[in-house]
Amino acid sequence: TLNVALNDDKHDLKDYQQVYNDIAQKIREYDEYDEAIGFGPALVRLAWHLSGTFVGPKGCPHFSGGSYGGTIRLPKEAKDPANNALENARWLLDPIKSKYSWISYGDLYTLSGVTAIQELGGPKIKWRPGRKDLGEEYASNSVLPDASRDADYVRGLFVRRMGFTDQETVALIGAHALGSCHIQAPILPGAKESTGPGSGYTGRWTASPNFFTNEFFRLLLEDKWTQKKWSGPVQYQNSDDSLMMLPADLALVEDPAFKKFVQEYAKDQDKYFKDFAAAFQKLLELGIDFKGKREFEFKTLDEQDI
Ligand code: HEM
Repeated sequence: TLNVALNDDKHDLKDYQQVYNDIAQKIREYDEYDEAIGFGPALVRLAWHLSGTFVGPKGCPHFSGGSYGGTIRLPKEAKDPANNALENARWLLDPIKSKYSWISYGDLYTLSGVTAIQELGGPKIKWRPGRKDLGEEYASNSVLPDASRDADYVRGLFVRRMGFTDQETVALIGAHALGSCHIQAPILPGAKESTGPGSGYTGRWTASPNFFTNEFFRLLLEDKWTQKKWSGPVQYQNSDDSLMMLPADLALVEDPAFKKFVQEYAKDQDKYFKDFAAAFQKLLELGIDFKGKREFEFKTLDEQDI
């Protein structure tokens, strides 16, 4: 059982906007990282993998995981093969953690996901602080999704284990509009070689992997997906072999209940943004009782003329 009492927080919107701005500047500074995709997608994945360890319905006293303890920084969780390459995202944030030593890892890593979504053109995500660092006894391992699986598995993990609806599940996985799969972790700025293996999959889901869009859904429906012929894990390629899908992505069009939402989001980007924003906030808050706490909404660098 976790003690998830919130930090008695003395910081206000101005303080957190400053942290947001520093993260956003880092994304700008290293825009050549990972074949010019930049760090944005990696930060979204970091926030999701920290939060997506949640096991057990809300209100149940025996739940575990979630973003609260910032435990993805600790070896037990960092070395989970599902977290391969996320050392790079943490590398980017280390100097920000040193500068703002008052912020917890859980707050910093979730805020970095919010920052990346907004800076890459996605919706505003409401965010709340108050997480506290926990030690290794609270770290998770082997609970993040396996990309080789089908719709029943995806539903079991998101709906039955984490408490999302089918609609929220589809909305969340649409974040695969961003970023790419890696056989090796991308090389960090100033480094000579990769920090280690990636997931073993390869390629991008969309042609604009550093813009948050509903493209993932449109491509799922409109392109033709066939199994890639290679010696790596089973994955799918589109008609001209420029883009990819994981088996767990295709599960969203194989299952009729999931497919309904894929169709809706492919048609209606505004609806997609609205639903994604709500589902992503819920993901970042799994297992934490924020009832009655202040919600912050941040301005993008553009909106501040920075
Ligand atoms: C990347 C699997 C859900 C956001 C990846 C990668 C895999 C994967 C295998 C490639 C990692 C690499 O090689 O670097 C899955 C599976 C999911 C799932 C099986 C659920 C069934 C999600 C969700 C989000 C998300 C819910 C966010 C809300 C991302 C992002 C990347 C990514 C942004 C790109 C990271 C980068 O470019 O460095 N995912 N994912 N994924 N995932 Fe997921």
